[in-house]
Amino acid sequence: MERSSFGTAPGGQPVDVYTLTNRQGMEARVTNYGGIILSLRVPDRDGRFDDVVLGYDALADYVAESPYFGALVGRYGNRIARGRFTLDGRQYTLATNNGVNHLHGGLKGFDKVVWTAAPFENDQGMGLVLTYVSPDGEEGYPGTLTARVTYTLTADNALVFDYHATTDRPTPVNLTQHSYFNLAGDGQRDILGHVVTFNADRFVPIDATSIPLGPLRDVTGTPFDFRRPTAIGARIQQDDEQLRNGLGYDHSLVLDKGGQPGALTLAAHVLEPTTGRVMEVHTTEPGMQFYSGNFLDGTLKGKRGAVYHHRFGFALETQHLPDSPNQPAFPSTLLRPGEEYRSRTLYRFSVSGA
Ligand code: GLA
Repeated sequence: MERSSFGTAPGGQPVDVYTLTNRQGMEARVTNYGGIILSLRVPDRDGRFDDVVLGYDALADYVAESPYFGALVGRYGNRIARGRFTLDGRQYTLATNNGVNHLHGGLKGFDKVVWTAAPFENDQGMGLVLTYVSPDGEEGYPGTLTARVTYTLTADNALVFDYHATTDRPTPVNLTQHSYFNLAGDGQRDILGHVVTFNADRFVPIDATSIPLGPLRDVTGTPFDFRRPTAIGARIQQDDEQLRNGLGYDHSLVLDKGGQPGALTLAAHVLEPTTGRVMEVHTTEPGMQFYSGNFLDGTLKGKRGAVYHHRFGFALETQHLPDSPNQPAFPSTLLRPGEEYRSRTLYRFSVSGA
C-alpha cells in the first residue's frame, strides 16, 4: 500500500494519505485526519474511472471549513437536541455547534482529530485500521471512548466500514461515514438525476431545527417513499412541510431489517443513469440519514477546481436515529463499560446496462 505525507494537522501531528487499490483498478485514498476518504475512483459502464466523492485537494482546506466531506463522524453522528441528555439520573451538556443543537460530535468531532492508522492486507482486501481514544469529557461526553474503525477495499469493489468502540463510563455512541457521492463523477453537476431505492417504510419527521418531532411517519404518499426506484429530484420541489424543514432531503430513514436488528441488510441502491454506475449500501444500522447536499451553495471550491453548487453531492449516513439519547422510543445508542459497540456498513460499486 502506498503511503505519502498529507501535511501537518493544527495540533502539529503529521498526517498521511494511504492509497487502497484492488485488482479491478478501484482506488480509495484515505487520510488519518478525520478518517477522511479523499477520493474514490470507480469504473463506469465503459470501464472509465472517475472520482465519485466530493472533497478537497489539500489538508488546509479540510481544516479551514468542511461540511464533513468524506469524514468519519462521532462520537454521535447527527443531532442531540440542545446538546443535552440525561443518563443514569445525571444531566450532561455537550458542545452546541448547530444553532442550539449538538451536531456530529460537536466543535471538534472525530472528523477533525488525527487517528492512528495501521495499514493491512489480508484475504478480504486491503485496508486501514484507524484508532482514536476520545478522552473523558471531550465535547461534553462522559467516559474515555476507545474507537477502532476498519476501512477495507475488497476485491469485489466494496468499501467496508467496521466500527468498534468500548468505554469506561456509560456514553452515547453513534459512528458514521459522511462521504458525499456524485456517481456521475468529479462533482460536475447536481445529483438530482440519480435514481435511488431505499428499503425504508418509515422516516423520522423533523422540526425546523432538524430535531425529531417524535413518532415515526409512514412514507406512503409522501416524497420520502423511495421503495421503488425514483430520481432524487422527482419530488424534491414539492410543497411539503418536511422538505421545507430539511431544505430538501435531510432526514433519517428507518431501515426495514426484516425483524432482525443488527443484521447486515440492503439499505439503498443508487443508479446514475448516464454512466451506469451503481452503488449499494448494506448496513447493520437501524437508520440512514439521506442528505441531498442542500447546504452546498457554490462557495466551496473542491478538488481539481470543481465548484460544489447546490445539491452537487448526496450522503447516505448509516446510523442510529437522531437525538436517540432523548427519544426513549428509538433504538438505544447507550454504550456501557464491559459492552462492545459494533457496527458494519459497506458501499458496493458496480455498473448497470450497456
Ligand atoms: C448532515 C446533517 C445536515 C448537514 C450535513 C453537513 O447530513 O444532517 O444537516 O449538517 O450533515 O452539512
